[in-house]
Amino acid sequence: MADTTAIVLAAGQGTRMKSKRAKVLHELCGRPMLHHVLEAAFAAGVSDAIVVVGFDGDNVRRSLERFGDRVRTAVQSEQRGTGHAVSCALPALASSVGDVLVLCGDTPLVRAVDLENLARALREQTSASLALLTCEVPDPTGYGRILRDASGGVRAIREHKDASTEERAVREINPAMYAVRAAFMGPAVGKLSPNNVQGELYFTDVVAQAAAGGGAIAVNCDSASTLVGINDRAQLDAAERALYRRRAHELRQSGVTIRGDARVDAGAVVEPDAEIEAGVVLRGTTIVRQGAFIDVGCVLTDVDVAEGAVLKPYTIASQSKVGPRAQIGPFSHLRPDSHIGEEAHVGNFVETKKTTLHKGAKANHLAYLGDGEIGEGANVGAGTIFCNYDGFKKHKTTIKKGAFIGSDSQLVAPVTIGEGAYVATGTTVTKDVPDNALAIARTRQENKEGYASKLRARFKAAK
Ligand code: UD1
Ligand code: CA
Repeated sequence: MADTTAIVLAAGQGTRMKSKRAKVLHELCGRPMLHHVLEAAFAAGVSDAIVVVGFDGDNVRRSLERFGDRVRTAVQSEQRGTGHAVSCALPALASSVGDVLVLCGDTPLVRAVDLENLARALREQTSASLALLTCEVPDPTGYGRILRDASGGVRAIREHKDASTEERAVREINPAMYAVRAAFMGPAVGKLSPNNVQGELYFTDVVAQAAAGGGAIAVNCDSASTLVGINDRAQLDAAERALYRRRAHELRQSGVTIRGDARVDAGAVVEPDAEIEAGVVLRGTTIVRQGAFIDVGCVLTDVDVAEGAVLKPYTIASQSKVGPRAQIGPFSHLRPDSHIGEEAHVGNFVETKKTTLHKGAKANHLAYLGDGEIGEGANVGAGTIFCNYDGFKKHKTTIKKGAFIGSDSQLVAPVTIGEGAYVATGTTVTKDVPDNALAIARTRQENKEGYASKLRARFKAAK
């Protein structure tokens, strides 16, 4: 399909979304509706795409940057119908283009295989001008109906609003996905007239022109649920669930265990033999590698989880890396730029930010580790705080290899704890600690024999 371009219509507002944002920018599985359509078209082999933008056009255009020069935009400043929208894209069409796929930006469930079948049908019947997908639905309300002639060929499409009672009884509908000969397209669109209830230029009217000329081929698709258009937020929800189910199914086929309602977004990757528990959400560019285990309720955004790592329940992490066989959680919070090394441990109620734990380092309970570097095998005790912020600037805490930080210590950055050094429990460290030294900074304990009973007597008398 090297000479096939897609034209994707995305200029409408989508009134029923009741949104300030263009309908096609509403997301499913972490990706705008429109992008799912483009991904399917590219997976089907189109070489490039022209997206027709209008309402909220600047934002739609901006969202398309990730596709690079494979996607261009054309502007339809006034929404005068789908036929008018296509005509706005025609000047951007290269003269070398053979066939054009005309698609809508609001059908995110469309599969590459159906678009391939559509394009092939037109390629194989050289005399035809156009091919279109059709499907049967239990409730065709709102859709354009497929009208066929006595011999069963497609004759025309009638929009719901323009249809007679008899035509409305037809359950074969137009999902609005077409393959069109480029040479036929321009003249056909030029002949459209707004001679209908809505006073619009309907792209659907080119089907009657094709049928009367070279021929219009109907490609029936038996999976109507993948061709549905999204018009409101209830349909958006249903489509998103379907996409998550489809993704989970594909991952299971590839050797991943996914339990319950785990959600793997479109850009996330999970390698074989990883296990993803119920309630997990994998967002952005997250990658979970071979044999890693992500337990219940973890939410990972742009996180790289290495082989065999274990994320215990309710770990929240973003823009971070977890090394091979590391253990995180339950209830850990890895904020951006956390790098947890091989076999390192980060336990419950530990928050990290811009901090590296080298191989085998541990911070198992209740800590804030911000702007730090923790050496191989070092141990950070419960309640340790890296005091990294003076209200103006952030400062770094360095803990060298094999050092031990006693519980409830505060390390006032910038500060370095030397290799093998020992910080006694409850110490506020304000000066660097040399290698193998003990730092202790707390008042000495005094025990007053028998004093507790005296105190109790005094308090009781005062009551
Ligand atoms: C369209 C079809 C209908 C089909 C249905 C399938 C027409 C006339 N009707 O109807 O036969 O059953 O899709 O979902 O084509 N758009 C523009 N500019 C415009 C108008 C629309 O870019 O001036 C875009 C919209 O943003 C949307 C797509 O075209 O992505 C479809 O428009 P919409 O108004 O939803 O068409 P339907 O009435 O659903
Ligand atoms: Ca629609």
